[in-house]
Amino acid sequence: MLQNDLLSMGELTEEDILDLIDLGIDLKQKLKSGEPHPYLEGQTLGMIFEKSSTRTRVSFETGIYQLGGQGLFLSTNDIQMGRGEPICDTARVLSRYIDGIMIRTFAQETVEQLAEYATIPVINGLTDYAHPCQVLADFMTIKEHKGALRGLKIAFIGDGNNMANSLIAGGLICGMEVAIACPKAYAPHPKILAFAEGKPFTMTDDLYAAAKDADVIFTDVWASMGQEGEAEKRRAAFRGYQVNRELMAAAKPDAMVQHCLPAHRGEEITADVFEEHADEIFDEAENRLHAQKAVMVRLMRK
Ligand code: CP
Ligand code: NVA
Repeated sequence: MLQNDLLSMGELTEEDILDLIDLGIDLKQKLKSGEPHPYLEGQTLGMIFEKSSTRTRVSFETGIYQLGGQGLFLSTNDIQMGRGEPICDTARVLSRYIDGIMIRTFAQETVEQLAEYATIPVINGLTDYAHPCQVLADFMTIKEHKGALRGLKIAFIGDGNNMANSLIAGGLICGMEVAIACPKAYAPHPKILAFAEGKPFTMTDDLYAAAKDADVIFTDVWASMGQEGEAEKRRAAFRGYQVNRELMAAAKPDAMVQHCLPAHRGEEITADVFEEHADEIFDEAENRLHAQKAVMVRLMRK
């Protein structure tokens, strides 16, 4: 259940996810119609980044501003955390100054430790394990396009990474059928596979079986942030794990494509499929803003 923090999809209920999506849609309408919504007036969100970002940084900073607050960009290259100041001290110091923390880092344990020691809400803006803000935006986009989530089939093609982990957990919680196609050596996290056991979940190395009759096809990069040194090896391991026209033909005729971005055309997705589904993919990127505003409102509103 959504309580003080958002650390991963697995801790949310279906009600939490649908509530955040509906609030995101409401905030989107308010923004588009010019209706002010200063629910977090005067509040500050600290945004700790240990990895690069375009969408997460810009959508959180813009989102908190639209809610009447301000964002503080904290690159670990610049704050003492980068020089070894412990997370438990960083958490307690920031809790004395600001109202919420968004963090993008490597280990999920770092985010968990931050949440344990902070007395303010902590939001996971991506770890190697999870990307809950992205999946909330993805599900909001699916709800906008398809009307509902329950009963749909989603298929993820590629690396069993943070996106795969969060889509599997979130999809199963929301009553969707989830299929993942990945090479055996690149399976999702064991904790996620244990969660999926006995639920409408399949993992295969057959892309076409995974994509068959899917309502939504997802993919993501073959080498995530921090894996740049493995890029060559991964390119060989994932060859063929591509969302292309042939694969799309296995999905439902009205299937959507979602990609969290950035995308590598010619690797996990072809340029033609990307462009054919660009409206859905950029709706997805836009919805980061609205879905995250919903998360901030639910966690930070006093
Ligand atoms: N999808 C996503 O999280 O993008 P950024 O890495 O640009 O934040
Ligand atoms: N799996 C990718 C997602 C980027 C938004 C990464 O972790 O780099």
